[in-house]
Amino acid sequence: MSKLFSADNVSVRFGGLQALDKLSLDIDEGTIIGLIGPNGSGKTTFFNAVTGLCRTAGGQILVDGEDIAGLHPRHVYQRGVSRTFQRSRLCLSLSVFDNVVIGRQNALDLTLFGNLFRRGRFIESVRENHDRVRALLSTFSEPLAARTFDPLHTLSMIDRRRIEVCRALIANPRLLLLDEPSAGMTPDETHEFMSDILKVRGDHPRMSIIIIEHEMDVIQRVADRCVVLNFGKKVAEGTFDAVVADPWVQEAYLGSS
Ligand SMILES: Nc1ncnc2c1ncn2[C@@H]1O[C@H](COP(=O)(O)OP(=O)(O)OP(=O)(O)O)[C@@H](O)[C@H]1O
Ligand SMILES: [Mg+2]
Repeated sequence: MSKLFSADNVSVRFGGLQALDKLSLDIDEGTIIGLIGPNGSGKTTFFNAVTGLCRTAGGQILVDGEDIAGLHPRHVYQRGVSRTFQRSRLCLSLSVFDNVVIGRQNALDLTLFGNLFRRGRFIESVRENHDRVRALLSTFSEPLAARTFDPLHTLSMIDRRRIEVCRALIANPRLLLLDEPSAGMTPDETHEFMSDILKVRGDHPRMSIIIIEHEMDVIQRVADRCVVLNFGKKVAEGTFDAVVADPWVQEAYLGSS
């Protein structure tokens, strides 16, 4: 397996707060990393730093050897990094299709001039997007694919989360960042959703995933490797078994003595 992604001594500061403190992390192609840590430990800040939503105060973020730190989010996305957000950014009044296609920037040429004079190309591009959205939805289930043009607000919570993942996947990312995708789900829904994530991994064997998740049993099920943050620093890393055996994780994160 070749190395896809590498964060090297990445720091982020908000005024006097050191939200990320020289964080380093390597990811091979096709692996799932579970990112865990207490509230406020810097997990979302790490995703924001990688995707260009917050400025780094030092360090490199390499995708395939190219430093993407400081790039505009659109350029990070073009280099194959997609994400979901801790708080949903779906548009409830729009259709499933619209919500997914929004994830594919520049997917449609919507200028009046372009559409009048290149109608054939426009229609072809709509058809292509439709096929791609349907194929992605079918990864999750055929009943979901049948709802391509339903308004999003008619879907259940778990289906909406699937739509968020589809929106990130439509860009064909090499690295997918999932920020607490199971938040607010029942244990049964979480189990079902994690089966979906494993299915997605099966369909994209070279794509790597970092998943932020608080439930340790979920991490155990899906992650090949775990990274634990505290106050912006990496405090443990390794297989699930190695990480839960770590004295710091035992004491501080799992709350056992
Ligand atoms: N834009 C910002 N401006 C100032 N402080 C921020 C900003 N974003 C995050 N922080 C602070 O940085 C620290 C890390 O926050 P972050 O959201 O990364 O934590 P987290 O590990 O994702 O937590 P949670 O599990 O609650 O989502 C926190 O102390 C937070 O208050
Ligand atoms: Mg967070």
